[in-house]
Amino acid sequence: MSYRYLGNKSRISDWIVQNISSRLAEGSSIVDPMCGTGAMSEALATKGYSVTAGDILSFPVLHAKARLLPLTDSHFEGVGGSYEHAIRALNDVEPIKGFFWEEYSADGSPRNGSKPRKYFTGENAAKIDGIRKQLLTWKEHERNMAAVDRLTHDLLLAVNKVANISGTYGYYCAKFGKNSLSPLNLNASRTNSFGTKMNVVQGDVLTVSKANPADAYYLDPPYTKRQYGGNYHILETIALHDFPEPAGEGGLRDWKPTASDFCYKRKAKLAFENVIKNIDAKYVFVSYSDDGQVSKEELIELLSSMGEVALHERSLERYSSNPNGIKKSHVTEYLFELKKREFNIA
Ligand SMILES: C[S@@+](CC[C@H](N)C(=O)[O-])C[C@H]1O[C@@H](n2cnc3c(N)ncnc32)[C@H](O)[C@@H]1O
Repeated sequence: MSYRYLGNKSRISDWIVQNISSRLAEGSSIVDPMCGTGAMSEALATKGYSVTAGDILSFPVLHAKARLLPLTDSHFEGVGGSYEHAIRALNDVEPIKGFFWEEYSADGSPRNGSKPRKYFTGENAAKIDGIRKQLLTWKEHERNMAAVDRLTHDLLLAVNKVANISGTYGYYCAKFGKNSLSPLNLNASRTNSFGTKMNVVQGDVLTVSKANPADAYYLDPPYTKRQYGGNYHILETIALHDFPEPAGEGGLRDWKPTASDFCYKRKAKLAFENVIKNIDAKYVFVSYSDDGQVSKEELIELLSSMGEVALHERSLERYSSNPNGIKKSHVTEYLFELKKREFNIA
């Protein structure tokens, strides 16, 4: 699953899992409460751990479900009879000039009087509206929920491929690029079947950590001030199946209810402290980088107050756009390892 998501760990998941597995026995339980794309949850499950994935936002929860939970044709009985039929039905829906077409396409006219927001071509936005309508109809029946969650995940991936953005949904590009002119098309995604128990939850990391004792936690919080709720507002709207009031030129939904303390320089250190203090696990692994709101030294000091600490580092190439094209630079990725002095789980 290729996915341009801030802080996506796909490129370094092998390195992270290798370090975790040098401490944590196969079959142990591990929580990934800020799971994003679910890349680390899936890598940990593949290594033989029993994984609980979570996130404060709704679309990462759908990605985690798609990557971790089993699914059979019986889940699709009420939505076409099989996964393939459901995908075909969604690809063949009647386009509708609805909410996405009006608010997020080149042909629309936003309610707040902004100029047309060119996140999608008119054709693709109308297709998204048609698919959303069908998913909402299927969603009325409780027994279809697992199927609707998977199909919404597939819609999210299809939308990412045709969105006219450079990286995040904070704003759209002035001109349509080649990918955004291609027609939106859903594909069935792979279904994994793991030998250990998997669980997916939604909520703030502090709440999730209080409710889920485990052998280990893997924390991958936001590093910078960029809030995920705002930068991925369109994906959140698709996951929630709702019709929010888009604000400003960019048409962002209200992201403040999901604002993360990790994104504020003055709050991030305390957020780390509160969460890690409340985690009931022997090991806590933390991904962070030299781009972060909290310095490496501050994190080492904080973690050392709670137990034994080790640090793994590696340099990673970062691509950033500048007016002259693509500029290469490097970022140092950290993996902190804390063996907690105090925890209850046996
Ligand atoms: C760096 S990304 C995680 C990337 C993920 N490991 C991956 O490989 O895709 C950080 C994630 O933390 C989530 N997040 C931020 N604050 C949170 C909080 N207080 N509780 C739960 N999740 C939070 C964001 O929604 C985002 O998905």
